[in-house]
Amino acid sequence: MTRLIVLLLFAITSIPAHAQLPAPSTWVNQRGSLLSIQTLDAPTGTFTGTYVNNAPGFSCQGQPYPVAGVVSAGKIAFYVNWTAPAAPNCKTITIWNGRVGDKTIPTAWTLFYVGSDWKFHKMTGRDVFTRR
Ligand code: BTN
Repeated sequence: MTRLIVLLLFAITSIPAHAQLPAPSTWVNQRGSLLSIQTLDAPTGTFTGTYVNNAPGFSCQGQPYPVAGVVSAGKIAFYVNWTAPAAPNCKTITIWNGRVGDKTIPTAWTLFYVGSDWKFHKMTGRDVFTRR
């Protein structure tokens, strides 16, 4: 019985760190953009923070935009609405989906925008965030 309890305790405490997202924490992606996690509600996994886009070839650079998301069972999803009132309004939204690894957060993203044809369009790509 004691062995079983020790085994169980070992199993529980050996849950890999990749299931966790530290708050506060700052992450940088391969384009130089910064994801800062400021609040994390542990029971629900919802988090808030800011995102500073520094990616060449995109607009709305160098200013913090609110970011919100959720992390659960090592999976993560978050979005930025690039229409913050106090910053340039790019009229786009990006959603990232990925997983929280030990040292990195590999993601796939989709950026939505309304074209001059008034239809929804999207761009897709990948970002890997590394803890700063
Ligand atoms: C825009 O140009 O419409 C707003 C900025 C979009 C920046 C994109 S979001 C996906 C990719 N990863 C980044 O860090 N920046 C670009």
